[in-house]
This record gives sequence, structure tokens and C-alpha cells, in this order.
Amino acid sequence: MTLEELDKKYGLQTYARDYTNFVKGEGSTLFAENGDEYIDFASGIAVNSVGHNNPILVAAIQDQAAKIIHISNLQIIEPQAKLAEKICTLADYDGAIFFANSGAEANEGAIKIARKYGETRFEKKRYKVITLEHSFHGRTITTVKATGQEHFHTPNFSPYPAGFSYVQGLDAVYETIDDETVAVMIELVQGEGGVQPFEKEE
Ligand SMILES: Cc1ncc(COP(=O)(O)O)c(C=O)c1O
Repeated sequence: MTLEELDKKYGLQTYARDYTNFVKGEGSTLFAENGDEYIDFASGIAVNSVGHNNPILVAAIQDQAAKIIHISNLQIIEPQAKLAEKICTLADYDGAIFFANSGAEANEGAIKIARKYGETRFEKKRYKVITLEHSFHGRTITTVKATGQEHFHTPNFSPYPAGFSYVQGLDAVYETIDDETVAVMIELVQGEGGVQPFEKEE
């Protein structure tokens, strides 16, 4: 069987995949199985920010893998505590870090934090979240609903959590905020939804 056939037979078909088989990466260059070279503008959808085969990253991963491969969140995790401090210090951010496994989990966590705030800090509960039209926020039930693209809200996954609305432009954000709104979630550079620039004044 070819790789494509294997994937189609044994992999759950949740993505419309391209079947170019990249076998190696070096910096921003990707090498395909057939010898073709590509410039990796996608970076694993904006994830590989230090490039492929980065020697510092590779050494850090190898070093950690040789010590402890995984430890649960029920124990203190030394590199995590130190990284949290480093991020806060570099960002000059007086807050705390939540480590997540994916963008969807990060956004889901942000929505939970906002909703807890809306539940505990006001006399009348605030739970509504405003996002932008054309946005994309993830593939969990809640982040699919937070996504401002109607075709993602298929009946297959319903019922969805309530309280999400989608607007076009920052003026509309301000107009939509009411006394039950707890958060505005904005994907500043949109990907899935195409390029949707705001007016410069906004
Ligand atoms: C803007 C945006 N937010 C959230 C996500 C979800 O991230 P993940 O696929 O890591 O769950 C994506 C993924 O494509 C994204 O493009």
C-alpha cells in the first residue's frame, strides 16, 4: 500500500490532506521524498517558529527525553515551572502561564477562565463571548462554536454551548457588548478565514 492508501484506510479522515511526503527539514527548507525542496511558509501552521532541525531545540528535546519522558500534572514539573517564570519575565507579564497541548485547548482554557471570572466577579452572571466573522478557534465542541464560520457549526456536533456571537470589525465588537458579555476573543492574524484586514483607523 502507498502511504496515502495507508492513511486513508487506517487514519480517521478528519482533514483534507495533501500527500506530499516530507522526510526532512533544515531551517525553513522542507525536503520531499521525491527530492523536491520547498520553503516552509506554513511552519506547521505557525508552530515551528525556530525552524526544522534547530540544533538548540533538538539538543534540549534529546536531553529531556533521556531524563524523564513525561510526568503527570500531579507532580511538580521542573522545566515547566522554570519556563513559566522565563515567559513572564521576558514578556514583563504580571500573571501566570497555562500550558496546553494545542491551540484548541489553549482557547478552551481561555474561555473557561473568562467564564469563571464572569460567574464569580459579578452579581449577574456574564458568560457571552464575542469573536470575529471568518475566525477559527479550534476543533473542540466549544472552540468550533467560537469559530466565526457557520459551516463549521454542523448539526453533527450539536447542541453547542450557548453564548457565542460573531461580528465584523471592531466597531461591531463594541456595539455587541452587553451586560452578559465576559470576553472578546480576537484572532489578530486570521488564517483559516483568509485575509480580512481591518480599516487602518480601527
Ligand atoms: C487561529 C487558530 N486558532 C486555534 C487553532 C487550533 O489549534 P490546534 O490545531 O493546535 O488545536 C488553529 C489551528 O489551525 C488556528 O489556526
